Amino acid sequence: MQRIVNAQGLNMPKLGLGTWPMLGEECTRAVEQALISGYRHIDTAAAYNNEDAVGQALANSPTPRDQIHVTTKVWWDQLQPDAMRHSMDRSLKALRSDYVDLFMIHWPTTDWDLPQTIKTLVSLKEQGLARHIGVANFPLPLLRKVVEELGAPLSAIQVEYHVLLGQHALLDYARRHDIALTAYSPLARNKVSEIAALQQIAAKHGVLPTQVALKWLLDQANVAAIPKASSKANQLANLASLQVNLDDEDRALIAGLSKRERQVNPDFAPVWDPFDQ
Ligand SMILES: NC(=O)c1ccc[n+]([C@@H]2O[C@H](COP(=O)([O-])OP(=O)(O)OC[C@H]3O[C@@H](n4cnc5c(N)ncnc54)[C@H](OP(=O)(O)O)[C@@H]3O)[C@@H](O)[C@H]2O)c1
Repeated sequence: MQRIVNAQGLNMPKLGLGTWPMLGEECTRAVEQALISGYRHIDTAAAYNNEDAVGQALANSPTPRDQIHVTTKVWWDQLQPDAMRHSMDRSLKALRSDYVDLFMIHWPTTDWDLPQTIKTLVSLKEQGLARHIGVANFPLPLLRKVVEELGAPLSAIQVEYHVLLGQHALLDYARRHDIALTAYSPLARNKVSEIAALQQIAAKHGVLPTQVALKWLLDQANVAAIPKASSKANQLANLASLQVNLDDEDRALIAGLSKRERQVNPDFAPVWDPFDQ
C-alpha cells in the first residue's frame, strides 16, 4: 500500500490527524504528540479556531516544517476575493508559516460568483501561498464544473467518507482526474466501533474495528483519511492501522454495509448527489 497520495504532485501522507473540535492547549498537545508519533499530515481550518494552537505545535516540534503536510480551509462566508485573501493571511499568521500545503474552500455556497471565487483560489496557488488547492464538500456536478469548465488545477477534494457512506462516483472522478480524496469523519465519529461486521473482521485479525475502518479507506487508491484523535493511545492505534491486512472476504463484508449514513449535514450543506452513496 502506498503511504502517500501523489495527485498533481501533492505528496500528501495518506493518514493524517483531524483537529476539529480541539482547541487551545489540548489541540497543541495533541498535534505535538501526533508529530512525535510519526504523523506528518495535519488537518485544520479557519473555522475550527485552532490554527493558532496548530501553529504553536508546529513551532514547538523538532520536525522541520517542510516535512509536514498542513491543510487549512476558508469558510464559505469568506469567499469574495478580498475576504478569501484575508482569510489566507490570517491562517498563515496563525500557523506561523509562509505557505500551506493545501488550501481548500471548506463548503460551497449559493451566494457567490463562482468563477471569481475559483480565480481567487487559483491566484493563491500562483502566489505560492498555497502549494496546492482543493475543495471540500463539493458534490460531483459542482466539482466537474470547477475542474472542466473553470479549469482549476485542484489537487484534492475533502468529503465525508467511511464504511457507512459511499463515495463511488466522486472517487471514480477523482481518480480519472488525478485528484486526491481526503476522507473526513473516517471513523463515522467512532460509530464504526459498534458495527458487528467490523467487530468480526477486527477479531479475525486481532485488531480494532477502528483500525479495520481506517485500513479499508487507506487501501484505496487516491484516498487519504484524517481521523481526529486527542489521546496518544487513539493516535497510535490509528497509526497502526497502516499495518492491518484486509482480505477480499473482509472487503465483501464491508461492501454489504449501509452506505447512506452521513454524519455531517449542516443546514448550509449542498444538495448531495442522491446516487453517490
Ligand atoms: N471538511 C469538513 O467539512 C469536515 C467536516 C468534519 C470533519 N472534518 C475533519 O475531519 C476530522 C475527523 O472527523 P471527525 O472528527 O468528524 O470524526 P472521526 O475522525 O470519524 O471521529 C472522531 C472521534 O473518534 C474517536 N476516536 C479516534 N480514534 C479512535 C480510536 N482509535 N478508538 C476509539 N475512538 C477513536 C475520537 O475520540 P478521541 O478524540 O477521544 O480520541 C473522536 O471522538 C476532523 O477533526 C476535521 O479535521 C472536516
